[in-house]
Amino acid sequence: MSAYILDGKALAQKLQSELKDEVDRLRARTGKTPRFMNIAIGQDLCAGSYGKSQKRAAEFIGIDYQFSNLSSHLSQKELIDHIHFLNEDANVHGIMLHKPVPSQIDFQQAVNAITPKKDIEGMNIANLGRLMLGTTSIIPATPAAAMALLLSSGVNIAGKEAVLIGRSEIVGKPMMMLLLEKNATVTVCHSATSKAGCLADHVKRAEILVVAMGKPGSVKGEWVREGAIVIDIGINPVDGKITGDVEFDAAAGRAAFITPVPGGVGPVTAVMLMKNGIETFKIQLEHP
Ligand SMILES: NC(=O)c1ccc[n+]([C@@H]2O[C@H](COP(=O)([O-])OP(=O)(O)OC[C@H]3O[C@@H](n4cnc5c(N)ncnc54)[C@H](OP(=O)(O)O)[C@@H]3O)[C@@H](O)[C@H]2O)c1
Repeated sequence: MSAYILDGKALAQKLQSELKDEVDRLRARTGKTPRFMNIAIGQDLCAGSYGKSQKRAAEFIGIDYQFSNLSSHLSQKELIDHIHFLNEDANVHGIMLHKPVPSQIDFQQAVNAITPKKDIEGMNIANLGRLMLGTTSIIPATPAAAMALLLSSGVNIAGKEAVLIGRSEIVGKPMMMLLLEKNATVTVCHSATSKAGCLADHVKRAEILVVAMGKPGSVKGEWVREGAIVIDIGINPVDGKITGDVEFDAAAGRAAFITPVPGGVGPVTAVMLMKNGIETFKIQLEHP
């Protein structure tokens, strides 16, 4: 079998065009443009590829996307004061805090200070709670992108054996909830699974395999079940190139669908962040 490639660039372009139409309609109706603020502490996000891809997506869609570059010596209190200021600014509809943050900053406490109705990353504790309840439209962008690619395969997820590797707050755990929401039977693997020597056994059962480990090529192609759907979230710089967590060529020889790295989950992620921001914009139009 040679897998069908789930093309993240093509999906990102399609979703971007849909979001652009939505923003055009909202602007025509309200006279307002969504405006987001990305807070970076001690780093120049304009120069980084992540910031650039977000800015590109925002410009295409018609979102006013700004960077707030703050000093690396900023205290937690100064950061929280800055977030409160943005919370109160009626012209800012979305706020995110870029990771990593310096050691004096408590990331989760700071994100919890972002008002939930402007939290475009969906990482505020209130929005994470709503994700658990299945009642939020603001879903962390990377798992949302992985899910959009999975759904683009057209395969019915309900009842499928899904194996997820990785349980981080920003990727793995929200992904687990999204798979459950779609009625997959979900197994979550992590470093202790590997230490116990069971990772390959779990992967071999997977009809849907989602990998977010940050360990290049760790999932061996020969482990992949024939006909599986493989979503590789890993982004790992190796010898000047970006590579995923899955051995792509060998896995593509067995899977029915697979995402490439680069060109899979990555391009869709920036668009999903903008989608969240349009949700927060709409929430604020209804509840100023
Ligand atoms: N495509 C995108 O837009 C996007 C966005 C964000 C992140 N990423 C990429 O996704 C990957 C994961 O990111 P993250 O933020 O979730 O990373 P993370 O916080 O480091 O979490 C990695 C997870 O993988 C697990 N793990 C590590 N080694 C393992 C092993 N040998 N066997 C089984 N599980 C293992 C860890 O288990 P423990 O919990 O036991 O430590 C942890 O749960 C990275 O490559 C990152 O660059 C991509």
